[in-house]
Amino acid sequence: MRHYLKIRDFSADEMREVLKMFRSMKEGRGKPEEKILNGETWALIFAKSSTRTRVSFQVGLLELGATPLFLSANDIQLGRGELICDTARTLGRMLHGAVIRTYAQGDVEDFAKYSGITTINALTDEEHPCQIMTDIATIEELRGPIQDQKVVFVGDGACNVPLSWVSAAKLLGFELVIAAPEKYQPSAKLLENTGVKVTDCIEDAVRGADVLYTDVWVSMGKEEERHERVQSLGRYQINRETLSLAKPDAMVMHCLPAYRGMEISEEVFEANADTIFTQAENRLHTQKAIIKFLRNR
Ligand code: CP
Ligand code: NVA
Repeated sequence: MRHYLKIRDFSADEMREVLKMFRSMKEGRGKPEEKILNGETWALIFAKSSTRTRVSFQVGLLELGATPLFLSANDIQLGRGELICDTARTLGRMLHGAVIRTYAQGDVEDFAKYSGITTINALTDEEHPCQIMTDIATIEELRGPIQDQKVVFVGDGACNVPLSWVSAAKLLGFELVIAAPEKYQPSAKLLENTGVKVTDCIEDAVRGADVLYTDVWVSMGKEEERHERVQSLGRYQINRETLSLAKPDAMVMHCLPAYRGMEISEEVFEANADTIFTQAENRLHTQKAIIKFLRNR
């Protein structure tokens, strides 16, 4: 049984296969589709808020023939302290797959282990693999091979999204630079042998960038650190000045939700809204491809 819990769960060839399937999923949408999950019921267990991930998985599962069952972690016994291993063993007896958004990476790993059903990480504190798979699919759709791009992440370099970017850069071998203050940089251990460059100088980082990417300064679960984060990350914004140092036609991406005036200026966000919402839409097609890939194994 295969799961998708972190970027490294797929080899480079497997990631390439999913990226290829993304195109056929997108082109084939609305045409008669093979209902590969016919008769199945999948849980969406969410301990954190979500718009894109929740809706794209629900719609995707329906389109593949499954019945999605949304379970807010607070409404099931998990929220009252039932162990993840007991929740997993119960749900594993009734369901065929699970999509989980939570805090600890260990919880999705345990769920996969104890449930015995296909499990997909819909975001933890350490990883957001479906997001980064989608981002690479979007870059390749709009600009061509990721290997030809200089991707620059600006902002909180220690949260789930940039951490998954680091793993993807190591796996596929493309140029990734992270601009973040020292306190919000990925750990030296994660960066080992990745070729990823990390700097606190935003100007150095964005010079010559093909893709500028950002995420919120205050990730879910970090709300108490808001004041300190806004102070430390204040310079790490994608705005007209930062964009002027990148390549003239640089792509601007944001995983969303966006906070204008914080990690991105209103002007730059709106000028790049078409790309950003294509990125959001592509969650649907990529995740359907991931599910199909897992089912073919
Ligand atoms: N990008 C993303 O995962 O969005 P949601 O938090 O709305 O799911
Ligand atoms: N880093 C953000 C991503 C949101 C999709 C968070 O964890 O809140």
